[in-house]
Amino acid sequence: MSTIKKEMLVDPTRIKNASGISETELDHAINDVIKKVKRNIVKLGETFPDSSTINNTYATAKNVEWTPGFWTGILWLCYENSHEEVFRKLAEKNVESFYDRIKNQVDVNHHDLGFLYIPSCVAAYKLTGNELGKKAALMAADKLMERYNPKGKFIQAWGNIGDSDNYRLIVDAMLNIPLLYWAYKETGNTDYLEVVKNHYATTLKYAIREDGSAYHTFFFDPVSGEPLGGKTRQGYSDDSSWARGQAWLIYGIALNYSRLHDDSDIDTFESVTNYFLNRLPKDFVSYWDLIFSDGDYQSKDSSATAIAVCGMNQMQRFLNPDSELFPIYEKAQSVMLHNLVESYTDEKTQGITALLNHGVYSWHSGHGVDEGNLWGDYFYLEALTRFKQNNNWNMYW
Ligand code: GLY
Repeated sequence: MSTIKKEMLVDPTRIKNASGISETELDHAINDVIKKVKRNIVKLGETFPDSSTINNTYATAKNVEWTPGFWTGILWLCYENSHEEVFRKLAEKNVESFYDRIKNQVDVNHHDLGFLYIPSCVAAYKLTGNELGKKAALMAADKLMERYNPKGKFIQAWGNIGDSDNYRLIVDAMLNIPLLYWAYKETGNTDYLEVVKNHYATTLKYAIREDGSAYHTFFFDPVSGEPLGGKTRQGYSDDSSWARGQAWLIYGIALNYSRLHDDSDIDTFESVTNYFLNRLPKDFVSYWDLIFSDGDYQSKDSSATAIAVCGMNQMQRFLNPDSELFPIYEKAQSVMLHNLVESYTDEKTQGITALLNHGVYSWHSGHGVDEGNLWGDYFYLEALTRFKQNNNWNMYW
């Protein structure tokens, strides 16, 4: 465990002087998304888009892997923004598919159950009282609970429970564990609460380095439960900071703070956020790892920036309006979103199109490099929706 020394923002003036998103641009961007999603629906029918594009075009996929919940979440967000039944009807059909998936245990032996079931089924229940969505999401929460390791006090992301080669937590889980807060709220069962609080505390203790940067994954000894060390899977190296991992932490801390209101987390939030903001390149959209900057000829990961905007927007509700950082964080969200809208949303295909271009799924495997991806699309639209609803969006997470 390290004591975090918060980096100050290196150049707040750069953020203050940059252009943010205007109301007209926001409305245009939301209308553009709605138009594109409608066209995608015609091409997809009841299938799902694949996790990332190939040559900027999504192939169709079944309800497998960790990303289809984002498609259903996009449908719910389109429904919230437009009130058009076409989005609600398809989202409800998708909920049936998610229920079948958890009932039949199709590709659910991993921790990504929050990514799958929150924007799809929890959203359905919150927005429309969909009881099947509630049932499916509670079943998914119980499945997630099975991955908890009491010795290490964390939810194991991948592999068989207790396996030494996978006895680790990963920062991405910060967006999966809110499923347990929701399950606790719906059922009153405190087991959910205990697990989510323990996992969160273990993540904060070990995944964040002294300078506010983050490990992607952190290993423990399966026999003693003792911490072993950080390793990356999707970042550049074990000691660099994978941009999306840093963004999962920004949003994850905001989501946990929204429930626990532990004020000691505010400093941690500001540390990981400043680390991210200090490494944004000229156009305020991060490269896929924060070790890179302009001139390194690397790909951007637009999804990391969209996730960071949503996380900062969530936390803004709880920050002291009189603090020095408050107006800068507020402006930074607007600047990042403006740059995403302006330079990352060109339509590049006649096929099933991404909403946000230039993301990176996995640089090491060459999968989805400089392509669109479903979570980038989702968080981009969530960010637009948060702005449209004046930072009062009733979140799915
Ligand atoms: N959770 C997997 C990823 O962010 O790529």
